[in-house]
Amino acid sequence: MKVLIVGSGGREHAIAACVAKSSRVDKIYCAPGNAGIGQLAECVQIGAMEFDRLVAFAKEKDIDFTIVGMDDPLVGGLVDAFEAEGLKVFGPRKNAAILEGSKAFSKELMKKYDIPTAAYENFDNAEAAVKYIEETAVFPTVLKADGLALGKGVLICNTKEEALEGVRTIMLDKKFGDAGNKLVIEEFMTGREVSVLSFVDGKTIKIMTSAQDHKRAQDGDCGLNTGGMGTFSPSPFYTPEVDEFCRKYIYQRTVDAMAAEGRPFKGVIFFGLMLTPDGPRVLEYNARFGDPEAQVVLPRMKNDIIDVMEACVDGTLDSVELQFEDNAAVCVVLASDGYPVAYDRGYVIRGLEKFDNKEGYYCFHAGTKLTDKGIVTNGGRVLGVTAKGADLKEARANAYAACEWIDFDNKYMRHDIGKAIDEA
Ligand code: AMP
Ligand code: GLY
Repeated sequence: MKVLIVGSGGREHAIAACVAKSSRVDKIYCAPGNAGIGQLAECVQIGAMEFDRLVAFAKEKDIDFTIVGMDDPLVGGLVDAFEAEGLKVFGPRKNAAILEGSKAFSKELMKKYDIPTAAYENFDNAEAAVKYIEETAVFPTVLKADGLALGKGVLICNTKEEALEGVRTIMLDKKFGDAGNKLVIEEFMTGREVSVLSFVDGKTIKIMTSAQDHKRAQDGDCGLNTGGMGTFSPSPFYTPEVDEFCRKYIYQRTVDAMAAEGRPFKGVIFFGLMLTPDGPRVLEYNARFGDPEAQVVLPRMKNDIIDVMEACVDGTLDSVELQFEDNAAVCVVLASDGYPVAYDRGYVIRGLEKFDNKEGYYCFHAGTKLTDKGIVTNGGRVLGVTAKGADLKEARANAYAACEWIDFDNKYMRHDIGKAIDEA
């Protein structure tokens, strides 16, 4: 088979590493890819939003199967563009990717189908939102831009003044562009967060092993929100009781709701859950693998990823048994100092070869570039260093040891990824 992967981050590198293990795959292309993916795949300089060029490339190269890793092209309808040309492609169509693309949509869906989530109100004009904040809201309250905002469109507001400022930022100043045309204001919840990824074929859902992200830039969950500074899997807080609750009230219900709305979902649904004192609640849905959740979940998957993804496309997922290794994995993101605000790039990365042939260790590239100086930093999140271990403690020690193998100027990381497991 010839496989095309669309995307360029650590998530797509983790997907590519899985695809490379498949005995069914002869050749992998990635558009646009990065320096690390380039060691497994032929990278082609086509952007993830250049739909016509991607379709033309897939036809020209006789691609058998395309995997879309990123949210933007999914929400924009890349899967529909491939299907219209008879090309086989993994991911939700535009009318299903709206599950991630519009928070107002996903909140309405959860309300209609009685899926546990925070109480909320949707607004499509700033005056109504201001009135609600003045008269009804309880603080802290949570403001969410409706559309995609690189994970930055959520504001936790402790006071009325902050909330009014937030409405201005999102709906009037349009800090997140058209993503702020609508606004969700929702109840503030407390509890531990868990990420659960799943494969879905339109009607059947199979749950992957759980994970936890660390979104804040600094140790102790301080600093600004980022794309994710590290992950571990499984989450010890995702107990059999939590799993049972979510299977009963959240997972299948979501899949059935999408089908009932005439929007059958095929691909990966990522459930962002909060384990509140009143039970698990959905914080958000994503229509793709998490980044960096994929970097700890996929290395532990035993199945051939092509078999599973093909079953999602063909509607035969009920015949697949997902299997995960009985171990743990931790991923620590090596970032450029200053991320997520301002940082320099172009620094040579040393030590990458230390990961060659090291069983259970992975160095997934997020923001890197191959130049005549060698591989250099090219983004805020640069690498995702993942290690497995018999348990979370061992995986964590292994991952932090492997972080020392890598060196570049302005290297920055959190030192407490997975520390929460000490409390479990
Ligand atoms: P989201 O993009 O919806 O996952 O939101 C980003 C982050 O904001 C989440 O990971 C939570 O830490 C926080 N968050 C979102 N919604 C709520 C809520 N209703 N209550 C408390 N925290 C929230
Ligand atoms: N790690 C969170 C996300 O991928 O959205």
